[in-house]
Amino acid sequence: MEKREFMYEGKAKKLYATDDPAKMIQYFKDDASAFNKKKLGTVTSKGIVNNAISEVLFKHLEDNGVPTHFLERLDEREMLVWKLDMLPIEVIIRNIVAGSMAKRLGLEEGQSLSTTILEFCYKCDELDDPIINDYHILALGYATAEELAEIKRLTFRINDLMTAFFDERDLILVDFKLEFGKRDGQVVLADEICPDTCRFWQKGSLEKMDKDRFRRDLGGVEDAYQEVCRRVTGG
Ligand code: ADP
Ligand code: TMP
Repeated sequence: MEKREFMYEGKAKKLYATDDPAKMIQYFKDDASAFNKKKLGTVTSKGIVNNAISEVLFKHLEDNGVPTHFLERLDEREMLVWKLDMLPIEVIIRNIVAGSMAKRLGLEEGQSLSTTILEFCYKCDELDDPIINDYHILALGYATAEELAEIKRLTFRINDLMTAFFDERDLILVDFKLEFGKRDGQVVLADEICPDTCRFWQKGSLEKMDKDRFRRDLGGVEDAYQEVCRRVTGG
C-alpha cells in the first residue's frame, strides 16, 4: 500500500492518505498528552506498543462481530484502516469509578457501580471535550437516532468482549473511550484501543497499568505499556 500525502497530525497519531481513497494509514507516535495538552511528554516506544495492542483488539472484536476500521498492520508504527466519516463524539464506558467521574462527583476511585455507565463527550479540543447526553447528540445532529442506538449496542458488546479479554490477562478493565465513524451507512469502530484510551488495573494489587502513570507522574510508564503489550500480544 503506497503511502501518499500527509493528511493530519493529532495528539497521538498522524494520518496519511493512500492510493486508495477509501483507505488511510494511522501512524502511531510516541507523543503523550494529558489534560487536553496541558501536560505533554514522550513515552518511548508507545506508538509501537499501541499499534500492536490495537491490532490484537480490533481483530478480536472483528472476530466477534464488531465492525472495525482495521485492515492490516503495515509495520511497527503504521496501521491501514478504512477512512471513515467520523462522528464528533467520544463514547466512554465506566465499569468502576475513576478519573474524571471520581473528580466530578466527589467519589473515591475504585468504588464499584451497580450498573455499567456509558457517557458521551463532544469531541472538541477547544472546549475540553465536554460531556453531553443523547439529547444533545440528537438535537445537534452529531448522530441519528439509529446511529446512536447502534453505537450503544456495539459499545456494550465491546465492553463485554474486552472485559473478558483483559480478565484472562489479569487486568481489570476500569474504563475506556471509543470513537466511531461511518462507512457506507454502517457505524464502524475507529481510532485505537490501548493504554492511552483505557484504564487497566492489575488484578489483586490494583496497580495502574495505563496512561494514569503518565498523567499522575507515577513513574514506570514505559514498563506498564510494555507489560500490557506482552499480555495482549502474548509476545
Ligand atoms: P486527536 O485528533 O484527538 O489529537 P489522534 O492523534 O489520535 O487524536 O488523531 C487521530 C485522528 O484520526 C482522530 O481525530 C480520530 O478521530 C481520527 N480517526 C481515527 N480513525 C479514523 C478513521 N478510520 N477515519 C478517519 N478518521 C479517523
Ligand atoms: P476520564 O476519567 O478522564 O474521563 O477518562 C475516561 C476514560 O477515557 C479513560 O480510560 C481515558 C479515556 N480518555 C481518552 O481516551 N481520551 C480522552 O480525551 C479522555 C478525556 C479520556
